[in-house]
Amino acid sequence: MVSYKELGLVNTREMFAKAIDGGYAIPAFNFNNMEQLQAIIMAAAETKSPVILQVSKGARAYANQTLLRYMAQGAVEYAKELGWEKPQICLHLDHGDSFETCKSCVDFGFSSVMIDGSSLPYDENVALTKKVVEYAHQFDVTVEAELGVLAGVEDEVSAEESHYTKPEEVIDFVSKTGCDSLAISIGTSHGAYKFKPEQCTVDPATGRLVPPPLAFDVLAEVEKKLPGFPIVLHGSSSVPQDEVDTINAHGGKLQAAVGIPEEQLRKAAKSAVCKINIDSDSRLAMTAAIRRVFDEKPAEFDPRKYLGPARDNMKKLYIHKIVNVLGSDGKAE
Ligand code: G3H
Ligand code: 13P
Ligand code: ZN
Repeated sequence: MVSYKELGLVNTREMFAKAIDGGYAIPAFNFNNMEQLQAIIMAAAETKSPVILQVSKGARAYANQTLLRYMAQGAVEYAKELGWEKPQICLHLDHGDSFETCKSCVDFGFSSVMIDGSSLPYDENVALTKKVVEYAHQFDVTVEAELGVLAGVEDEVSAEESHYTKPEEVIDFVSKTGCDSLAISIGTSHGAYKFKPEQCTVDPATGRLVPPPLAFDVLAEVEKKLPGFPIVLHGSSSVPQDEVDTINAHGGKLQAAVGIPEEQLRKAAKSAVCKINIDSDSRLAMTAAIRRVFDEKPAEFDPRKYLGPARDNMKKLYIHKIVNVLGSDGKAE
């Protein structure tokens, strides 16, 4: 048993309370490799933003949970070395799919876990979430739960259609489970293809697809039922069109990739939404930079020469999210 507190990590409780009071959101960035982690920590340290490092099932399979946890531990020391005296870094399990997975993360030094029972019948979601909460809270590890189903195209978290969270269920769910935060479904979804072209309109000036707005009425209903309770948005990448263009200009083929417009995320960040999950945008930033180097310098074969620019591009993206979208800069001085 390793306590995250010994590793210098923090849980989400205080971060979320301050974010709700302050009208901003904490960035939750997924990581699978060293360059992503370096970019996240550099961005958070430079802007003094609290940050959540997320490890998904896919990341655990790709990079190994043990290695990722030690990398997160190293990240705390790295942050200090960068001059961030009191780093506020949370290590979070993204989309935990069983009690056993959540328990193994709690036992191994994660400071926060998500139990995603959103695909289960309501009563089973309640029972599973409650079991995880009872275990995690013994060690002061915070628990995120989910109600409602996100549509998506990713393997691990896919559903054909989204089902918005039912506001009439949230009080019962939170009081029965004791969860610390709740992910809700209001129209976001995972991946770089969040809407079908037929769901969008076309901006006549740019010819770009304009997605339908998020269901802010559902969010408002949830907030009314659970005043001050931390709400989480998954699937919140914006799919920056300049990165998509760079990828396509250098041999890629991303057709009709569309995300959540930033102004909608800004609006969400000012509400009870206090954690915003971003993964796909980092993948796009990384891929765009690597494709550019491969295309422009075909003789290059030192990985540092393309992973370095990829890291720089991700860092720029993370800083942009923190400063211009979520508003969490300067909140972890
Ligand atoms: O929620 C999904 C995240 O983007 C993680 O995706 O399972 O492919 O690592 P992944
Ligand atoms: P995106 O695919 O929109 O980046 O969402 C990531 C996410 O929700 C991770 O849990
Ligand atoms: Zn997610």
